[in-house]
Amino acid sequence: MAHAPAGSSSAPAVWIGTSWKMNKTLAQARAWAEGLRDHLGGRAPDGVQPFVIPSFTATTTVAEVLGPDSPVLLGVQNAHWEDAGAWTGEVSVPQAKDAGAQLVEIGHSERREHFGETVETTRLKVAAALRHGLTPLLCIGESLEVKERGGSAAFILEQAAGALEGLDDSALSRVLIAYEPIWAIGERGRPAEVDELLEPFAALGEACTGKVAGLLYGGSVNLENAAGLLGIEHVSGLFVGRTAWQLEGYLQLLNIAEAHLAA
Ligand code: 13P
Repeated sequence: MAHAPAGSSSAPAVWIGTSWKMNKTLAQARAWAEGLRDHLGGRAPDGVQPFVIPSFTATTTVAEVLGPDSPVLLGVQNAHWEDAGAWTGEVSVPQAKDAGAQLVEIGHSERREHFGETVETTRLKVAAALRHGLTPLLCIGESLEVKERGGSAAFILEQAAGALEGLDDSALSRVLIAYEPIWAIGERGRPAEVDELLEPFAALGEACTGKVAGLLYGGSVNLENAAGLLGIEHVSGLFVGRTAWQLEGYLQLLNIAEAHLAA
């Protein structure tokens, strides 16, 4: 999988990605990936950069199904900052790369909440991904409590600044950021209204647009709200859970992205 992520080229891409979280057997992963591969026929819609982030167990299966020249980037949902060693239960960036990954998701709120991920560990992991030539996908997002006291923008800027501290311009240009407000994620979340996202994206845009590879939105993205979310200034992609776990949903999101670019 030697091709460069579309976001690093001059043409701005719309990123449409999914994390499967802790879901799918190998057979289910294979079926989804085969369906996507056959649907795309070796070519993503113009300007659209698809990516998929399975569980670790399915990384090689999905890599093999998609094949070496796939237009779909493959990621892992986490990776340790050390290259190897006595870290039972962890997977390193070189191991993820060896399994076929090109992208490393870092700092998802579920990892921050349940697995002790901190700003410091996200910084170490971003550096590890970059050191090995993988694209870090840094997730940031505030809780409902922070949102309700009006602190969303400051909170996410601090998370991003902490994780990206010390990177030079060239390293920064390889980083993807996904803004995923915790209150909007998963079964316990509610879809965000576009109006609620304008201020956080204005702040992120001011800090990051033109400097990073892309600014994505995630959290209860569905087929009804995807077009509106893509229309928000500074949003250059969507990072999707449930709606994309069925291949049909993911394919429809690709169509929505294509229509958005054509509009
Ligand atoms: P949902 O789209 O299921 O809310 O999940 C979003 C997410 O956490 C992607 O990382």
